[in-house]
Amino acid sequence: MEDISTLKGLIGGFRQSRILFTANNLRVFDFLNKPKSAKVISAKLGADVRAMSILLDALVSMGLIKKNGSLYENLPISSEYLQSGRPEYQGDIISHYDTLWNNWSGLDNVVKTGSPNRAAANHESFIRGMHNLSVMKAKSVIDFIDLSGMKTAIDIGGGPGTYTIELAGRGIDVTLFDRPDTIAIAKEYAGHLANVKFMEGDFLVDPIGKGYSLAFISQVFHSYTPGENLRLIKKVKKSLNKGGKIVIQEFFIEDNMSEPLEGALFAVNMLVHTEGGRCYSVKEMQSWLNKSGFTEVAISRLNEAVIISAET
Ligand SMILES: C[S@@+](CC[C@H](N)C(=O)[O-])C[C@H]1O[C@@H](n2cnc3c(N)ncnc32)[C@H](O)[C@@H]1O
Repeated sequence: MEDISTLKGLIGGFRQSRILFTANNLRVFDFLNKPKSAKVISAKLGADVRAMSILLDALVSMGLIKKNGSLYENLPISSEYLQSGRPEYQGDIISHYDTLWNNWSGLDNVVKTGSPNRAAANHESFIRGMHNLSVMKAKSVIDFIDLSGMKTAIDIGGGPGTYTIELAGRGIDVTLFDRPDTIAIAKEYAGHLANVKFMEGDFLVDPIGKGYSLAFISQVFHSYTPGENLRLIKKVKKSLNKGGKIVIQEFFIEDNMSEPLEGALFAVNMLVHTEGGRCYSVKEMQSWLNKSGFTEVAISRLNEAVIISAET
């Protein structure tokens, strides 16, 4: 009995994701800060009234909005996270997941061939989505790092610059290193800060500068092979001052590669999107640090992530 209900949940799980993606794409939640009928929302969005009523009723059932008579309105969960412009807005990461949906649809072939399926791409929602996720935890992650005496940092693969902004706010001069198309977006978030510099390139092949007291590498390793990550760590070590620190943040996965579920699912995402990426265990990352000459390695768990730090 228990098994079949688990199975039913898995079979139908896609429906709620799809409803949320469509509501987010149509910007439904932006119109529901005040009670409105399906007819009014359909007129504003140029949508079909019958279709919109069915979608809205499903959103009510999913606990994302409420209904009073024929009027629909956001609940706190939707006004806080799904309405544009809110500080903890999650709409970009939802758009990013909608792109992932398309690529995951090719999973049969990815598993047969071992090759990724990246046909769908939306770089902007990917990078802005990283900000949606990181803005919720940047303060607590940076609080974890002992920043005493640190003057300069490099944020490798810094994406939108959420962690760069947090480090810069603590008086550190930060260089955000990323690809040019990402830097263009990062400048929108962090370009106004006097102690933030931007460096464009591919960190596997281009120079990353030197003289840093801290190298922060968040959610980068899972896109690459163990060999590429080892090469990056060796390169980063050379860029650090004596006594400098490397701090890594990744999704946590046990040595068995199956727990927790979030880590195992994220590994599939990297299978779909990269040639050689997956989730890495703490043991694997620790071995790259040891091979690069970092001997004292500290490990901390922070919710779904692991934070690994080591000093030169
Ligand atoms: C998953 S995002 C993480 C962003 C940010 N560090 C965070 O944790 O919110 C990975 C970032 O690494 C960048 N990146 C990946 N490979 C890169 C490479 N070879 N050179 C430069 N940047 C790279 C991507 O453009 C992206 O911004």
